[in-house]
Amino acid sequence: MDGFKRRLSESVQLRLSFGVSLAILLVAIVAGVFSFASAFDEAHEFQDDMLLQVSALFDRQHLPLPHLGDTGRAAHSDEESRVIVQYLAAGPNSPVSQDTAARREDDPNAALPDAARPIPAGVPDGVQTLEIGGEPFRVLVKTMATGERIAVAQETGFRDEMARDSALRTVTPFLILVPVLLLVTANLVRKMFRPIASLAAEIDRRGERELHAIDEGHLPSEVRPFVVAINRLLGRIGQSMEAQRRFVADAAHELRSPLTALSLQAERLADAQMSDQARERLHVLRKGIERGRSLLDQLLTLAHAQSAPESPGSPVSVMRVYRRVLEDLMPLAEAKLIDIGVEGMERGSDARVPVNEVDLIAVVKNLVDNAIRYTPERGRIDLSVTAGGGHAVLRVVDSGPGIPAAERERVFDPFYRVLGSGEVGSGLGLSIVKTIAERLGADVTLACADEASQTGLAVTVRIPLADA
Ligand SMILES: Nc1ncnc2c1ncn2[C@@H]1O[C@H](COP(=O)(O)OP(=O)(O)OP(=O)(O)O)[C@@H](O)[C@H]1O
Ligand SMILES: [Mg+2]
Repeated sequence: MDGFKRRLSESVQLRLSFGVSLAILLVAIVAGVFSFASAFDEAHEFQDDMLLQVSALFDRQHLPLPHLGDTGRAAHSDEESRVIVQYLAAGPNSPVSQDTAARREDDPNAALPDAARPIPAGVPDGVQTLEIGGEPFRVLVKTMATGERIAVAQETGFRDEMARDSALRTVTPFLILVPVLLLVTANLVRKMFRPIASLAAEIDRRGERELHAIDEGHLPSEVRPFVVAINRLLGRIGQSMEAQRRFVADAAHELRSPLTALSLQAERLADAQMSDQARERLHVLRKGIERGRSLLDQLLTLAHAQSAPESPGSPVSVMRVYRRVLEDLMPLAEAKLIDIGVEGMERGSDARVPVNEVDLIAVVKNLVDNAIRYTPERGRIDLSVTAGGGHAVLRVVDSGPGIPAAERERVFDPFYRVLGSGEVGSGLGLSIVKTIAERLGADVTLACADEASQTGLAVTVRIPLADA
């Protein structure tokens, strides 16, 4: 019972079905009772009227008293509806009583107020309900013009049955209505809640930055205020995220100027005369300043990546982006004697992706920068791009140590770094890649470059093409 109550309070459909059924049943009971009462009254009047008519007929026509079988037992007649007419017996020797007694022997089914169940002679004129032979009868006693008294009787069961039938006829449509309405309610509720289910699926599919308003147009008006409130909340969350992003960007921007000034001062200091120990310390200081600058640059790039996407211009050539990034990073690779190359460049293979060039440069630059930084000297790095199946697939494969499988999720978190590489970095590079990829609807996967030896890192970025 507790389980049912809980389900009732949780399920709109069940509550609606239960409420509607209860209301219909109540209405059916009330209608049935009214119908029974009014039909009973009418049947009562009808019965009394009929007894009066019959008695008047006998009186006017001076009809001989018919045998009981003749009056009441029309073919297929209902026993309860039979009308019995009888002279009030003067005593057991009256001719009528004897006659009916004789008939009763012939016809043992005749359940009539006959000699065995006489209507008492002392019954006064008028209509009354009498118990005769254990059965309730409505009896009209009348003194005719000839001075004889007749009794016209009919079982009261007749009018009860009429009233019962009438009540049943009233209640039946309601009883049919209950299952029909239950089906209609279930169907309606299912249909009404379908847009909510698809709405839930749509929200589930969203990324954490997709905070645009939910379309409330096709929703039932009862649910709309709830969705409007959610939209307002989404708006507020979006605003607060934007404020946070702007704060990070502004802070990074503001910090750049003093850091640049500091860097210039350090540069000028290097020209001055100083001891070897001081020069060594200055070198450490300049390295620190350089790290601070690159952290600020990465912070600015991340803040930019998190901002609302700008609409992309014309499709960008991936090869062109590769070339630009390599131009920037080549000195780093050369310093480590790393063999870095782009597969298919001479064959002219390329893909044009519908994204912002700045975004694509940030993605490729961070991936290639990682590959150069974490690959030991004399290593190898291969860049490639292929297009097909509605996607452009960019790959950066290096011969470095790779990232352990257990760390491949976490390295995308901001400021997360795998310890032990001996390299310095801010831990923001892969978060920038992930943030931009999410915005472009692309996905980024990390794998081993060489599955057999479990070394090297192969980063794959799948960017959807415009017509996909
Ligand atoms: N090609 C790679 N080979 C081996 N390890 C890698 C490679 N790329 C990334 N990693 C590991 O993943 C971690 C996170 O990389 P990410 O680019 O996010 O930060 P970072 O390189 O430390 O700093 P930043 O790029 O912001 O200067 C790195 O600390 C490094 O340990
Ligand atoms: Mg990096």
